[in-house]
Formats: sequence, C-alpha cells, structure tokens
Amino acid sequence: MIRTLLLSALVAGALSCGVPTYPPSVTRVVGGEEATPNSWPWQVSLQYTSNGKWYHICGGSLVANNWVLTAAHCISDSRTYRVVLGRHNLNTAESGSLAVSVSQIVVHPKWNSSDVSNGYNIALVKLANPVSLTDKIQLACLPPAGTILPNKYPCYITANGTLPDVLQQCRVLVVDCANCSSSGWWGRTMKTSMICAEGDGVISSCNGDSGWLLNCQATDGRWEVHGISSFTYNYCHKLSVFTRVSSYIDWINSVIANN
Ligand SMILES: *[C@@H]1O[C@H](CO)[C@@H](O)[C@H](O)[C@H]1NC(C)=O
Ligand SMILES: *[C@@H]1O[C@H](CO)[C@@H](O)[C@H](O)[C@H]1NC(C)=O
Ligand SMILES: *[C@@H]1O[C@H](CO)[C@@H](O)[C@H](O)[C@H]1NC(C)=O
Repeated sequence: MIRTLLLSALVAGALSCGVPTYPPSVTRVVGGEEATPNSWPWQVSLQYTSNGKWYHICGGSLVANNWVLTAAHCISDSRTYRVVLGRHNLNTAESGSLAVSVSQIVVHPKWNSSDVSNGYNIALVKLANPVSLTDKIQLACLPPAGTILPNKYPCYITANGTLPDVLQQCRVLVVDCANCSSSGWWGRTMKTSMICAEGDGVISSCNGDSGWLLNCQATDGRWEVHGISSFTYNYCHKLSVFTRVSSYIDWINSVIANN
C-alpha cells in the first residue's frame, strides 16, 4: 500500500509540469493563431511600472512556484517589475489570474547587453510570494541538461499578440546548429548555447513581442520550454534565435537553490 502510494506520488510529481489542464491546439495554422485560453499555463507576463501604470515587457515561464525564467534583455536595473500569471488577454481582468510582485532578479553574470551574440541571455525572477498552482497557473517543465532537439523538430512559440492582446501561438521548426551556424544563416553569431527555429514565413502574429517561449513536446507528452527568445527576427530566413534552456539547467538549479 505504502509502496503504491509512493509510486503514485512520484508519478504525480513527474507529471506536475508541462501538462496543461486545457491542452493547446497543436495545429499547423500558417501565420500563427490565438492560443486556446490558458493552454500554456506556465506563460507569464513580465511587466514594469511607469507613471502608475503597468506595461508588458516580456513573456516568461513559471519554473517553480516562486520563480520565473525570462530573457536577460528584458531586465533593466532601474525598473520595478511584477509578474502576471494565468492570463489570456492582457487587457481584460480575468478570473483566476494573479499579479505578484518581484522580490529578486538574478541575471546571468556573463550577460553583456552590448554583446547579445555572446549568449547568456537568461534571467530568473523571484516572486515575493509563492503562487498556488491552479487550472490556469501551472509549472513549465525544463528539458534535461544538454538536450539537443533534431533538425525540423516542431515546436510552438507563444507570445503576447498585438491587437487584440491575447496570447498567440506560432508553429515553428527547429533548425539544427549545423544549419543555423552556416554562413547563409546566422554564421558565427550562432553558439551552441542557442537554439534556432524557423517559422513558416508568416509568423507575424508572434512578431510583436519579446521574451517569447519556445515550447516543445517531449515524447512522453509533456511540454518543455526549450528556448527563450534572444535575437531579433532574421527576415531573410524567418528565423529566430533562442537561448537554449538545456545548456543553463545547472545555473537555473543553483540560482533557485541558493536564493
Ligand atoms: C504586446 O506586445 C506589443 C508589441 O510589443 C505591445 O505593443 C503591446 O502593448 C503588448 N501588450 C500589452 C498588453 O502590453
Ligand atoms: C561587453 O561587450 C562590449 C561590446 O563587445 C565590450 O566592448 C565590453 O568590453 C563587454 N563588457 C564586458 C564586461 O565584458
Ligand atoms: C541542414 O538541414 C538539412 C535538411 O534537414 C540536412 O540534410 C543537413 O544535413 C543540415 N545541415 C547542413 C549543414 O546543411
């Protein structure tokens, strides 16, 4: 009996990330589409305040009940931030959504905003209070350290849209390092700590935002966040470069363990 309970607790633990209550629609719509509400429940909006109002600056993903993973380029020392969770439309009050203040921000120590191509475009944002997980607020799974997705692996970018401000999703295909670092693409700018993904040429509805997430489904069905958007869009190849989350797993774990 105890053994059975222990086993089911372990299984539940293993499934407690990356399995949305409201599953995303995994379609191949060209140009992106509105996401099914709350189908990416680890997606958060990082916002800063100015003159008494809050503004969306970047997306992020909830990786622990008090930590959000985002891009370092979203962070500026002079600003005050909050995190909004459980939201589909950023302009409407929605039941089940939460705004939580931020108690600490840890930007990767090697990040240099004057040298984005060097990598390390990653930051962790600590929430002032841990959040309760609900049907609309759930944890992202992160890939095992060192995971490399094969060429053309399908993933979904999720991003705040422009007008209406509802969460958009765009299907993309991973471009492997050999292709992405070839001279016709990103060349030497591409580092192994990055992951590239190619849109269908019309990913315009996912074009307005920063701090996109690259969500990829593992073979066991769980969604993992493999990338955090880093470089601006390459118009020639409709290609985006992301921070490859799987090369920062040790850093993420040590920040969370030590803060
Ligand atoms: C979503 O992103 C666009 C483009 O960056 C921005 O203009 C818009 O204000 C954002 N939405 C919200 C609610 O902040
Ligand atoms: C950041 O990058 C710029 C441009 O490459 C460089 O001049 C500067 O020395 C770098 N700063 C640090 C602390 O490495
Ligand atoms: C690029 O992608 C193609 C098609 O998937 C693949 O056959 C090739 O090996 C890749 N690498 C390079 C360097 O082109």
